[in-house]
Amino acid sequence: MNLHIILLSLIFLSKTQAQDGNQFPGGFRFGVATASYQVEGAWNEDGKGENIWDYLTHNNPGAIDDGFLTGKGENIWDYLTHNNPGAIDDGSNGDIACDSYHKTAEDVELLKDLDVDFYRFSISWSRILPSGHANYINREGVNYYNELIDTLIANDIRPLITMFHWDLPQPLQEIGGWPNPILADLFVDYAKVLFDEFGDRVLEWITFNEPYQICHQGYSEATKAPLYAQDGIGGYLCGHTLLLAHAKTYQLYNESYRETQQGRVGITVNAMWGEPASESEDDATAAENYIQFTFGWFFNPIYASEGDYPSVMRSQIDANSQAEGFQRSRLPSFTQEEIELLKGSSDFLGLNHYSSYECARLTTDETTPSFINDMGVSYTQPDTWEAGASFWLKVYPDGIRKLLNWIKTRYGNPEVMITENGFSYAGNEQDLQDCRRVNYYNVYLEAILAAIVEDECNVTAYTAWSFMDNYEWLRGYTQRFGLYYVDFTDDDRPRTPKMSSRVYSNIISTRAINWTYVPEGFTACDWSTE
Ligand SMILES: *[C@@H]1O[C@H](CO)[C@@H](O)[C@H](O)[C@H]1NC(C)=O
Ligand SMILES: *[C@@H]1O[C@H](CO)[C@@H](O)[C@H](O)[C@H]1NC(C)=O
Ligand SMILES: *[C@@H]1O[C@H](CO)[C@@H](O)[C@H](O)[C@H]1NC(C)=O
Repeated sequence: MNLHIILLSLIFLSKTQAQDGNQFPGGFRFGVATASYQVEGAWNEDGKGENIWDYLTHNNPGAIDDGFLTGKGENIWDYLTHNNPGAIDDGSNGDIACDSYHKTAEDVELLKDLDVDFYRFSISWSRILPSGHANYINREGVNYYNELIDTLIANDIRPLITMFHWDLPQPLQEIGGWPNPILADLFVDYAKVLFDEFGDRVLEWITFNEPYQICHQGYSEATKAPLYAQDGIGGYLCGHTLLLAHAKTYQLYNESYRETQQGRVGITVNAMWGEPASESEDDATAAENYIQFTFGWFFNPIYASEGDYPSVMRSQIDANSQAEGFQRSRLPSFTQEEIELLKGSSDFLGLNHYSSYECARLTTDETTPSFINDMGVSYTQPDTWEAGASFWLKVYPDGIRKLLNWIKTRYGNPEVMITENGFSYAGNEQDLQDCRRVNYYNVYLEAILAAIVEDECNVTAYTAWSFMDNYEWLRGYTQRFGLYYVDFTDDDRPRTPKMSSRVYSNIISTRAINWTYVPEGFTACDWSTE
């Protein structure tokens, strides 16, 4: 073959590849994700400080489901009504978790075996800055992450680092946590340490994982540490600090690091798609408001051309606050300068997505502050959607395609990186032949591919949650999201590949979904029942 023909066939190949609706485009990247508290263990080793999950699980273990280990099962509503700190001492925790702190080499081998382009993990703030403050840096914590980063890079796997995935240092909780505005500056101090220590090798940063879960669930609804129930108040104060912490961190990177380190900084928000429960105008509005209150809350200030909180949040929370007799709105206001600082402060839109809701208008004459009343939406999932083990996780792949289109329309088609997506089995299920998880990945990736190829949504990466089974917050070890099975009753925490790990690996190497692919050592799934 002469050079001319080689060149022509190369052009032909890349064209057919680009036009093949069954294949992910060249340059599209695949990864897997975890978070520090959920996998690392080593909670008090090598100088690490205490964080809010160490504190919660040690002092209030009754809040954690641990059904399959102890026979006891508690749900979040039991917890809310029975909250009984310190009374129960057999709840599970992340003290050891997957013991990833001691398994860097083994875990990177598994990542290599998956053939991922990147590994998304989070840094434990308390491991780097034991008191939460940047006056003292724990070198042993820095060494651990240096080794992980270097081992990943040596194996051609890019680190995608989350700076904060829910494990706030306990001393910062004791000065109020995220509702205290000083936390924005303390976070920037922490981020600066990370850029200084790791930024020479890390090209992609996520400041926060899931602000809605951190703020609404942590400070309004009491379903995540620190389990505060300041409904309609704590969540908004937390969100305000967190957005400013993000924007200031972005500004710091943009002004002082981007030129030398050449990396990118983004933020990840979790969003359910909101489907109208009926054809009525009211329910269409309810669905839109659901997305604005849970997703727009954090992305409108960054991506909408006008910036600031979504106008529907501003108007409804202001009106409710006034009707309830408050002297000022429960939703704080940004200054004009802060609005400008936030606008455009993300190099990619990080999206975590698992499921959808059907939304209907909610009217109530309650006069106590409440996020749900502010939003004015009730949301449910139909029984006809297949259910995962998590009460909020039902399979509706159209939801992600619609959500990606919503982002494209509202925010001008920014680059989206899907930073989590996955399916849970109950913790006591030996789920190595995990056909329902394989089905989930296949149908969601098909929907994402359609959004890219047919709808021209600007999606550049996909991350499976999770690399391995891990500590599922208040659910303890009772729910498994992993591509690898972890035996938490074995001191050595052995990892065993599930069928989904092989199927995902095949998707990565072929860039395509193949329903008939049966990995070695597994049997074919019966898709007629799906
Ligand atoms: C980042 O810095 C560049 C160069 O200083 C500036 O032009 C740009 O506006 C900054 N971006 C944001 C979003 O602040
Ligand atoms: C995708 O996003 C990137 C980064 O914002 C942008 O440069 C590019 O133009 C976008 N692509 C499309 C097709 O809109
Ligand atoms: C899908 O997998 C089957 C079984 O391994 C294989 O025979 C077939 O060639 C694959 N299809 C594609 C398009 O790769």
